[in-house]
Amino acid sequence: MCKIITVANQKGGVSKTTSVRNLSYTLAESGYRVLVVDYDPQSNLTASLVLEDENEDVPKIHTTIANLMTMAMDEEELPPKNEYIQQRGKIDFIPNDIHLSVVESNLRMEMGSEKLLFSILEPLRRDYDYILIDTNPSLGPLTINALSAADSVLITINPEFYATIGLQDLTKTILKIKRRINPKIEFEGILLTMCDMQTNLHKEVCAEVNEAYRGGMRVFKTSIPRSIRVGEANRCGLSILEFEPRSKAGIAYMEFAKELIGFAG
Ligand SMILES: Nc1ncnc2c1ncn2[C@@H]1O[C@H](COP(=O)(O)OP(=O)(O)O)[C@@H](O)[C@H]1O
Ligand SMILES: [Mg+2]
Repeated sequence: MCKIITVANQKGGVSKTTSVRNLSYTLAESGYRVLVVDYDPQSNLTASLVLEDENEDVPKIHTTIANLMTMAMDEEELPPKNEYIQQRGKIDFIPNDIHLSVVESNLRMEMGSEKLLFSILEPLRRDYDYILIDTNPSLGPLTINALSAADSVLITINPEFYATIGLQDLTKTILKIKRRINPKIEFEGILLTMCDMQTNLHKEVCAEVNEAYRGGMRVFKTSIPRSIRVGEANRCGLSILEFEPRSKAGIAYMEFAKELIGFAG
């Protein structure tokens, strides 16, 4: 059965995109059928997944999620899947570009627009075990669409000062969406990213998050360490496991994936 997971946090720079990139790689390598949707107009995920073709001067133009959203808004029939789903290794993905920001403005004026992404992804469920949606740093119409399409939401947190401030707005929004639009959405849990457990600040924030959400929401036991290698891997368009399989961050993403899907070993 397919599970659609939206990765969200209205803060930028908390490892949403990096976590989608690495989780999708680990799940796909473990044999799961994975689709990734880049749903942030900044399109960092697309940049890390698209392989540059050295033989082409002009990059190929593909159908993006922004195009699909516009078609869905206009009630047009969507093109065949092979026109908008691309492959990178074992990962399938729907690319994106900056035009998604135009879609975001249009969504504000469109009635009943919260479930447009849902309408695009529902027919794809039968082809995948996991669909991961990367979102933009806001609680605007795009994130609402992504949450309305999801079975669960994974929240990434960077344990800096102020990390937990804003989390309440996010959980409030999710609960509102659960009551009004998408009753099946659940909290997948909180993933602590860019952790530096040597520092007291990080230890304190991690303890604070665990304390605040104990009983209410899962805080994953695995946290992702801060490592310059993660940034380097991102820059090369690689997951950390391809870039440096035995790095602490690589092992952490593997452990996190196991915890998420609930198998040991
Ligand atoms: N574990 C990590 N250690 C060090 N740098 C990281 C780590 N995770 C992400 N980064 C870097 O931090 C920046 C923000 O990460 P990103 O995944 O783009 O966050 P978001 O999608 O939430 O805005 C990027 O430059 C990325 O390379
Ligand atoms: Mg991002």
